[in-house]
Amino acid sequence: MEESFIRKDIISINELTKEEIDFILDLAGDIEKNPAKYDNIMKGKIMAPLFFEPSTRTFSSFQSAMLHMGGSILDFDVEASSIKKGETLTDTAKMIEGYKPSVVVMRHKKDGSARLVADIMTSPVINAGDGQNQHPTQTLLDLYTIRAVRGGIDSVKIIMAGDLKYGRTVHSLALALSKYKECEVFFVSPESLRMPHFLLDELSRLGLKYREFSLDDLKRVLPDAEILYMTRIQRERFPEGLEGEEEYLRISNKYHLTKQILGSVNLKSGFKIMHPLPKVDEIERDVDDMTYAHYFKQAENGLYVRKALIALVTGALKNG
Ligand code: NCD
Repeated sequence: MEESFIRKDIISINELTKEEIDFILDLAGDIEKNPAKYDNIMKGKIMAPLFFEPSTRTFSSFQSAMLHMGGSILDFDVEASSIKKGETLTDTAKMIEGYKPSVVVMRHKKDGSARLVADIMTSPVINAGDGQNQHPTQTLLDLYTIRAVRGGIDSVKIIMAGDLKYGRTVHSLALALSKYKECEVFFVSPESLRMPHFLLDELSRLGLKYREFSLDDLKRVLPDAEILYMTRIQRERFPEGLEGEEEYLRISNKYHLTKQILGSVNLKSGFKIMHPLPKVDEIERDVDDMTYAHYFKQAENGLYVRKALIALVTGALKNG
């Protein structure tokens, strides 16, 4: 299995089989338990980060993953680069390719941009989020977290709440869950931010069991779920202008999980709240101190999963 990952682009979760996903998660598990074993495997290798959209967690966890394994990172800052002068994505990719990175990690606001760059480059490209489309590394760390919390992924009952229209994390995660047995997803969102139809059709075709609910139903479905996966309302992806602004405010005022709500329902034992972060106003601060809050551990898991991915696509495991 290891061999098949060498130079593999990680663009969409759809392109990974369940067996490949489980292999990545198992490796991440070993990395979490035995980090020292992987300390120097990236020595002499360079990662090129192409981040055209802001990122805190994803960028720093990739950076940290690379540094912990003894690798180096190309100092490429979009703000200070020729992109500001109008250079095309294709030209930037060809130029970076010439500097021989062992792996490229990229984030861009356009759907499909990671695929475009991967087709140009011979170095393996990892998609760190392309527009509203996919965020496969986030999904892998989400799956890792779900597995760690409940001992497996099959038959998980999970609420995905918030911005299901623009949120790439829920798009990737729902598709990934369709690879596992008997998972059940409750999509809870404002009417205007429902899961796109084409994705619902795809999920039905893949046999995923799901139901849709309005925001007002959140309290009602909470007792049925083992995991509540909250997401941020993606303000930056709303249409520009007054209409978009008003719609954002109308929704964000209604979308707020409080300690009081959680205390008023009968939650399943082991219930956890996940969130890809950053969170804005959708979770009251006090919730962070409840045993349900699992999002900071989830973010930490990103380190193990991204170490595993970098090691696999660069073929560095044999150095361990
Ligand atoms: C997410 C993203 O970029 O899609 N963040 C992340 O990578 N952890 C979620 C978000 O921005 O809301």
